[in-house]
Amino acid sequence: MQTITTVAELRRVLARARKADKRIGFVPTMGYLHQGHLTLVEASRAQTDVTVVSIFVNPAQFGPNEDLSTYPRDFLRDQELCRDAGVAIVFAPDVQEIYPTQFETFVEPGELAKPMCGAFRPDHFRGVATVVGKLFNMVQPDVAFFGQKDFQQCAVVRRMAIDLNLPIEIVTVQTVREPDGLAMSSRNRYLSEEERRRALAISRGLFAAADKFRLGERDVEQLIAIAREHLNTVDQLQYLELVDADTLKPAESPLRRTAALCAAAYVGSTRLIDNVILPLSTP
Ligand code: PAJ
Repeated sequence: MQTITTVAELRRVLARARKADKRIGFVPTMGYLHQGHLTLVEASRAQTDVTVVSIFVNPAQFGPNEDLSTYPRDFLRDQELCRDAGVAIVFAPDVQEIYPTQFETFVEPGELAKPMCGAFRPDHFRGVATVVGKLFNMVQPDVAFFGQKDFQQCAVVRRMAIDLNLPIEIVTVQTVREPDGLAMSSRNRYLSEEERRRALAISRGLFAAADKFRLGERDVEQLIAIAREHLNTVDQLQYLELVDADTLKPAESPLRRTAALCAAAYVGSTRLIDNVILPLSTP
């Protein structure tokens, strides 16, 4: 496994792989890796020949009062996990390499970035789209892998790839959970034991609604109400929305198209997000 910190070196190494007709898979991350990230790596290894993982805590996607400075980091451990997982290249640039002085050109996503997280984290998806777009240009992968846990991020990235004609297949990988249901997240490490227990309300609420959906419930308000019963125990429910899986606009009753039930909640001072997909064969 190679660790590379500059775009120039990355391009040199990947040019060789491309010349040898290797398919390149890419897993962008902000590090502090867990089994969720490693499942993306597994998917990439299964579908491509060379897997590149980027580790870059992207300042552009954090708001002024968010956790950029305290975001958990453990680069040596991340490297080891990547090596054990069969990653070929870890790309770990510093901030100057990605955002040199005078950087001023951004990728501006549209409607998909407005609801849910976008409503509470202005400019978050602009930061995500910009860094993912830049990383795509640096790595030029054949396939890139994203987690369903960040459902809105997946939608924004897919749209960007289409709108900017990026010849990259975007694969979404199912959310990986702790045995008790909590979605894995680098931010889970902020939780105290007591908060960790209370955080379970999020997945429980989403699962309860998904169960009712499986039993035939198609009413949007009913499904949201079922989830809300559980989610009432978090410290602050930022949003709980049932949206059309393609447009992210509020879903309409009775549900006829695949929808996503998405939540963001504070447990203590930690903001957690999660979602479940309610699948329907869309006409
Ligand atoms: P990060 O939060 O590190 O996540 C990196 C990738 O891992 C994302 O695609 C995310 O959806 C996926 N992921 C996280 N937790 C997961 C879980 N429990 N199950 C499955 N996949 C999971 O998302 C980002 O970083 C950044 O926004 C990034 C795309 C790297 C741009 O900076």
